[in-house]
Amino acid sequence: MTDSTTRATFGTKLGIIAATAGSAVGLGNIWRFPSQTAQDGGAIFVFVYLACVAFFGAPIVLAEFILGRAGKANSARVYSNLAPRKKFHYFGYFAITAAFLIMGFYMVVAGWTLEYLELSLTGELARMNDFAALFDALRNDAGTQIKWTVVFVLATAGIVAFGVKKGIELASKLMMPLLFLMLIALCVRAVTLPGAGDGLAYLFAPNLENARSAGPRVLTDALGQCFFSLSVGMGCLMTYASYFGKDVRLAKTAGTMASLDTSVALLAGVMIFPTAFALAAQPETMTETLKAGGPGLVFVTIPQLLQSLPGAQIWSVFFFVLLVLASLTSTISLLEVITAFVQEEVRVTIPKPVVRLSKKVRRGDGNAVLRQEYRFSRPFSVLVISAGVIALGVLCSFSLVENSSLKIFGMSIFEFLDFLTAKLMMPIGGIFISLFAGWQLDKKILAAELTVAGTLSLRFFKVYRFLLRYVAPAGICAVLVCGFL
Ligand code: TRP
Repeated sequence: MTDSTTRATFGTKLGIIAATAGSAVGLGNIWRFPSQTAQDGGAIFVFVYLACVAFFGAPIVLAEFILGRAGKANSARVYSNLAPRKKFHYFGYFAITAAFLIMGFYMVVAGWTLEYLELSLTGELARMNDFAALFDALRNDAGTQIKWTVVFVLATAGIVAFGVKKGIELASKLMMPLLFLMLIALCVRAVTLPGAGDGLAYLFAPNLENARSAGPRVLTDALGQCFFSLSVGMGCLMTYASYFGKDVRLAKTAGTMASLDTSVALLAGVMIFPTAFALAAQPETMTETLKAGGPGLVFVTIPQLLQSLPGAQIWSVFFFVLLVLASLTSTISLLEVITAFVQEEVRVTIPKPVVRLSKKVRRGDGNAVLRQEYRFSRPFSVLVISAGVIALGVLCSFSLVENSSLKIFGMSIFEFLDFLTAKLMMPIGGIFISLFAGWQLDKKILAAELTVAGTLSLRFFKVYRFLLRYVAPAGICAVLVCGFL
C-alpha cells in the first residue's frame, strides 16, 4: 500500500479548483445537458436538475471530498481504511466499474469533437450547410468514430501515465478560464440572434405541456444528469481528494466546483436553445424537433451558431479546441480513478521455482516454490485499462450505426451504457457514499475534515450530517422510484 507520505499531492489551491472543476466540466455540460433538456421539454427539467444539484449533488461532492482526504487512497481502499475489516470496499469496486463503462461511450463522443475540430481546421465546417446530415454521416461511419476514439483514449492515457501534478493540473489551469470566456461570447451572440427569445423561454419558462409528454422520466433524467455532470457518485472526486493537502477547505471547494459546473451547463443551454430556435428552418415544429434531437443536437446547433459569426472558421477552431480540452480533463479524471486502483491494488503473483533452498523454506520434495509479487507500474496500468476502453468504444461506435443489431433492451450499446451509468449506477453510488459518510464514518473524522483550523459551525455540521443520513438517500431513492414508474 502506498502510504500518505508518498502519495502525490496537488500543488496549489487554484490547481485543486481547476482539477476538480476540470473533471466536472466537460461533455456532460456542453453535450449531454442540452440534449437531455431538449428531450425532456425544457424548463421543468432544468429546475428539477438544479434542485438535484443543491440537495443531492453538491452535498455528495462534499462527502466524496471528505472520504477521499480522510481515507487517502484509491476509491476502494478509502473504504477499508476508514472502516477496517468491513466489506465496504465493494462500493469502490462498483464505482470503478462505473468509471470504466462511462469511459466506453464518453470517449466516442470525445472522438466526435476531434472530428469536428478537424473539419474546422480544414475549413470544411464553415462551408457546410446541412449540419444534420453531417452528423448523421458521422454516426453511421464507425471507422471514423473508432479512429478518433482511439486517438482520444491515447491522449488521455499519455497524460495520466505522466503523473498527477504535471499533467492534470497544467491542462486544467490553462483551459478552464478560456472555455468560460468563449462560452460567454457565444451566448452573447446566441441571444442577440433575431428570434432568440423563444429559445430562452423554452429553457427558463416552465411549460407543463412540454414536460408532460416526457412524463416522470424527467425526474430520473435530471437526477442522472446531476450526478454525471458533477462527476459524483463513483469515486472520481474521492480519488482527487486523496491528493488534497490538509489545508484545503472542503466545503468551500465543493461549493465552488458545483457552482462552476452548473454555470457552464446553463451557459451551454443559453448558447444552444436560442440558436436552435432562431436558426431553425421551421421554428413552429422546433419543440418536436428538439425532443427527437438526441445526441446530435449540439453537434448540429453549434456549427450553425459558429457559422453566423464573422470569421466563422477561427471561432470554430477555437471552440472545438476548447471542447476537446474540456473533455480531456474529464476523461483524465475517469482514467485516474481506475489507474489509482489498478496501480495500488492489483498484484500478480507468479510462482518462481527455486531449487535447493535452505531447509527452512524447503518443501517436502526438496524443491521450494517462492512466490514473487508484481505490481503494475503506472504506465502499464494505463495501457491495460486503455485497451479495455478502446474495446468498449469500438462496440459503442458500431452500435450507433443505423440498423445495428448491437442492442441491449432496445437501446444501442452506446445509449445503454449512458443509461446504466448515469441513471442507475451513479445515483446508487451516491446513496452508498452518503450513507457511508452519514452512518459509518466516525463523527469526529467527519467534523475534523469539515473543519480547517477548528472553525466549524455546529449548525452546519448537524444539518449536513442529517442530510447525508436521511435526506439524500431517501430523496434519491424516491426520485428513482417515481422516475421509473
Ligand atoms: N462530469 C464530466 C462531464 O460533465 C464527466 C465525468 C468526468 C464523469 N468524471 C466523471 C462522469 C466521473 C461521471 C463520473 O463531462
